[in-house]
Amino acid sequence: MDIQRPRGTRDFLFEEMKERKEIETTLRRVFETYGYGEIKTPLFEDLALFTKKSGEGIVEQIYNFQDKGGRDLALRPELTAPVARLYINELQKSPKPLKMYYFGSCFRYERPQKGRWRQFWQMGCELIGGKSPESEAEIITMAAHSLEELGLTDFEIHIGNLGIIRGILDQADVEKGVQDIIMAIIDKGEIDELLKTLNELKIDPKTSEILLTLVGLVGHREIIKEASEVIKDSPESVEALEELEELLDILEAFGFSNYTVNLGIARGLDYYSGIVFEIYARSLGAQKQISGGGTYNLIEIFGGEKVESTGFAFGFDRLVECVRLCEGAKSLPKTVDVYVAPISKELKLKAFEVAQILRKNSIKTEVDLMGRKLKKILSLANNLQADYVILVGERDLEEGKVTVKDMESGKQELVEIESLAQEIKELLKAD
Ligand code: HAM
Repeated sequence: MDIQRPRGTRDFLFEEMKERKEIETTLRRVFETYGYGEIKTPLFEDLALFTKKSGEGIVEQIYNFQDKGGRDLALRPELTAPVARLYINELQKSPKPLKMYYFGSCFRYERPQKGRWRQFWQMGCELIGGKSPESEAEIITMAAHSLEELGLTDFEIHIGNLGIIRGILDQADVEKGVQDIIMAIIDKGEIDELLKTLNELKIDPKTSEILLTLVGLVGHREIIKEASEVIKDSPESVEALEELEELLDILEAFGFSNYTVNLGIARGLDYYSGIVFEIYARSLGAQKQISGGGTYNLIEIFGGEKVESTGFAFGFDRLVECVRLCEGAKSLPKTVDVYVAPISKELKLKAFEVAQILRKNSIKTEVDLMGRKLKKILSLANNLQADYVILVGERDLEEGKVTVKDMESGKQELVEIESLAQEIKELLKAD
């Protein structure tokens, strides 16, 4: 066939979907434990929603189109802007804080490579109307908790506050648009390019030196002391650093202290306004960022009231890859518990009847639809790791019974069809 999948997209087959579903379920459970409720927004939105304040990088990557009515629309590149819109449309009057989570695909016109797709999934949370830095601390704790529940240990959570660098730039009277350019380069992490840009933008040498020092400050809590020395002449930055320290105190009260302070985090999206964080999985190599988030002011930018909001999103596809690479990850559930096998072709209708009894009792059941020989069915059941095979034979049926074969021990037992579902449930529970 000539028609191929579009570049940067994937098909997911059975095993992978099972894996993804399992991870999704675990994350949902953790998010709901912290009081988050699920929401869903459209796959496409007004283009302006994403061009207003998402930042140069994202805007360049947008999949946009005109519909038949001439409206400019875009496939969503992320979900924070849609959630901010949803909040303004539907929830402004609701009691705060509002805790929402989402799971859905996003689209970015990227150069496809390992871990970087044109269609990818995000699972994230937004907390609207919470207090800072308590809300950020709870969000970061929840992100760490989620990763632990997935059996992941090989990750680093880097936390910073954009207000520190913005404060230095404000102090030097660098206008907002120019600040955004500088932040975008800091986000790329390329120091030489940053140096060159600071020179080109004629940023004074003292400010440039402070910026370069701040960007390089990455470590545990003790780097804050060094930072406070560097920024002491900028009250705005001092305040932002104090806020970061307060956040770290709260994080520790929540029982999470395995963080890295990183004052060079700039985030690729322009709507962040304070605390920001990124999570890296060492095992992933180049595309190691599995999550990003922080505090933002999108709601105000979209014309809503001033309300503190913070959130983060996991790059779901990268998380899946991490779980796969991690030895400690959980084993996946099987697709079938029981395989129903007629002893001979003539008994297939009876086998269907028995399979339905089990399925209606929520037991994962497979039944032969291909007229296969018993030997073949047993081998298939073995490959599928079914715990039990139900042998449907003529003589047993005359007594209203079937034979239950334990695939691990090989033991067989006659069971009344009437009590079969109950019996299998108990056996599965005991396994
Ligand atoms: P983001 O950092 O742009 O933040 O994306 C979040 C995560 O999505 C990234 O950390 C990464 O794991 C994953 N990701 C991004 N692009 C791709 C791609 N092309 N292929 C695979 N994975 C990708 C946001 O989108 C913000 N809305 C997060 C947020 C929520 N901030 C506040 N609330």
